[in-house]
Amino acid sequence: MENFNIKGILSFKTCCVMCILISFLPNTRTLHITNIIVPPFVDVRDVVTLSCSYNIGTQKLNSVKWYKNDKEFYRYAPLMPTKQNMIFNLEGVHITTDHVCNEKFCTIHLDNLNNESTGAYRCEVSGDAPEFQLSHETSNMTVAALPQHNPKIEGIERNYYEGDFLFGNCTSDFSYPPPIMSWYINDQKADSNLLQPFQESTVDAYGFKLYQRSLEIRFRIDKRINPFITDGKVHMRCVAQIRQMPSQIRESEHIFYVSSWDELRNQKLINWKSSAHNLKITTAKSILMYILLPICYFIAGSKMLLQTIKS
Ligand SMILES: *[C@@H]1O[C@H](CO)[C@@H](O)[C@H](O)[C@H]1NC(C)=O
Ligand SMILES: *[C@@H]1O[C@H](CO)[C@@H](O)[C@H](O)[C@H]1NC(C)=O
Ligand SMILES: *[C@@H]1O[C@H](CO)[C@@H](O)[C@H](O)[C@H]1NC(C)=O
Repeated sequence: MENFNIKGILSFKTCCVMCILISFLPNTRTLHITNIIVPPFVDVRDVVTLSCSYNIGTQKLNSVKWYKNDKEFYRYAPLMPTKQNMIFNLEGVHITTDHVCNEKFCTIHLDNLNNESTGAYRCEVSGDAPEFQLSHETSNMTVAALPQHNPKIEGIERNYYEGDFLFGNCTSDFSYPPPIMSWYINDQKADSNLLQPFQESTVDAYGFKLYQRSLEIRFRIDKRINPFITDGKVHMRCVAQIRQMPSQIRESEHIFYVSSWDELRNQKLINWKSSAHNLKITTAKSILMYILLPICYFIAGSKMLLQTIKS
């Protein structure tokens, strides 16, 4: 009796687990979207691919529609005798000719993006009569004008002595959103008291206002004031970052060398010694030229004179 009860409980449990598992399995009979691909961040110069995959189950595919901010811009309607692909004009949405839609997926490409292309993109798939099942997915796309090159560093020399003043200017490429600029000295973020307020200029492009920013850094090369400065190699790094886009970091590096005044003194001493050495050589040469040569000539001359007299 007891054994039977335990078996009964076990089978009841197993049944529950199975039921729960089955309820989590995707329903293969009803029409549903399996995947939507909309890139979250794109550059305004990109050609963007939007794709929607679906399982129509036992249904017949009636239509696939693409919307931006609830406005339809593309429709695939395979049951229509004509005009199976329709494109509707929408600001910021320009569809290229190579769209491919079928019973499994619908892929379109957008080019000539601009500031109006940012938005919520929705794919909506519907089945045919009598049920007209509907499934939709939405994904946001943000269009930016990303910087095309690394920031430019100007003004920093290659060699400094302790006590010198360093001036550096870092200028970003034009972008929207505007870049956040920062300086790093040997991987330490430069303190704001070393920085001047940033300068900004703008141009209009693709419906955006693009920003270029310059950030100046100035400091005295002094180990007591700036302990992160060491003798020898110092790495100066300038970073231009686009907010909300962690992958969009542009940076440049400039290396300079610091010598202490002791080294300079030693250097001077070496120079002086070597110039003193040179002086000796020059003196020796002069002695040869101005004293020994005339003597030689004199001796030679005398010999010739003597010979003339003898003959
Ligand atoms: C998409 O953008 C809208 C409007 O900016 C916002 O309300 C929504 O939360 C965003 N959705 C996602 C998934 O980020
Ligand atoms: C820094 O560079 C920018 C861009 O070249 C320039 O507009 C700005 O005047 C420079 N600043 C200084 C102090 O040279
Ligand atoms: C896009 O740019 C155009 C032209 O500069 C402007 O009229 C429009 O308001 C902008 N739209 C958005 C969403 O910023």
